[in-house]
Amino acid sequence: MFQSDLLAGKRILVTGGGTGLGKAMSERFLELGAEVIIGGRRKGVLEETAAKLQAKTGGRILPLVMDIRVAQAVEEAIDEIWAGGPLDALVNNAAGNFISRTEDLSARAFDAIANIVLHGTFYVTAACGRRWLAEGHKGSVLSILTTWIRTGSPYVVPSAMSKAGVAAMTRSLAVEWGRRGIRLNAIAPGPFPTEGAWARLSPTPELAARSLDQIPMGRVGEHSELANLAVFLLADQCAYINGEIIAIDGGQWLNGAGTFGRLSALSDTDWENIRGMIKKTTAKDKANQGG
Ligand code: HXC
Repeated sequence: MFQSDLLAGKRILVTGGGTGLGKAMSERFLELGAEVIIGGRRKGVLEETAAKLQAKTGGRILPLVMDIRVAQAVEEAIDEIWAGGPLDALVNNAAGNFISRTEDLSARAFDAIANIVLHGTFYVTAACGRRWLAEGHKGSVLSILTTWIRTGSPYVVPSAMSKAGVAAMTRSLAVEWGRRGIRLNAIAPGPFPTEGAWARLSPTPELAARSLDQIPMGRVGEHSELANLAVFLLADQCAYINGEIIAIDGGQWLNGAGTFGRLSALSDTDWENIRGMIKKTTAKDKANQGG
């Protein structure tokens, strides 16, 4: 759906780029001509992904070990990237999450998520932003959130709180840095199965099937769909988009919002019966009014 050199000349850092959605986005960026740096904690995973994507796309990809939970480590990693030239875009994709009853969470469990999603995302964004501002270089930040930033979500409270914080960062900095050439946008994905997330969020087949019922489009997302949206938001051709958060979830988050969403489960016979009952009530009302 894009011209093949759409991202040529762009240097993009994808945090958590070694696996899952980060890997899928990195592959798409490479296909469209970008140079991609994939950041993550595990050297072996990053190197394996880099070798695979390099062979598949012929693009330029660099693995870089970085733990975004540690501000100093982030500064050093970003310095290392900048030594090879400034980035043009940052994709805040690294995250951590697991389902749990909130009363079962220890302070350390909360911190395990918040340190990655809230603190880590800020450290990387600030490290890139400072350099872009100092050099007068244009920059684009794309953060991967979830639809829970709009609704909240039970059983993933540390993630919902942290991602909502990143949504606030996106909107705040879109205004603060927008006039200086830096734009920030975000994607709020619904279910896009990946090994890492699914083991922690839908650990049994029954839980996975139940969440499918809530999606109006009746299916989970394809990684390529999310990757294409990421390209669209990073492309210069629509650089006027700033401070926006776009859901890509098959309509899932709206499903719980309407009063009657659950009626999708009714059969034709149910609807026939309901229509008869409502008509009877209306006829009775009219008779009582003498109409
Ligand atoms: C309760 C738990 C727990 C669980 C860990 N803890 N798992 N508590 N239920 N299932 C507690 C531990 O007991 C400990 O507290 C504390 O959390 C820290 O545990 P560690 O194992 O030391 O954590 P750490 O090594 O930092 O691991 C971080 C992690 C891990 C987030 C827990 O899963 C991780 O690194 N994940 C990265 C990949 C990932 O999660 N991807 C999914 C992202 S999905 P105590 O008090 O006992 O010491 C996503 C959104 C998807 O972000 C949206 C889909 C719609």
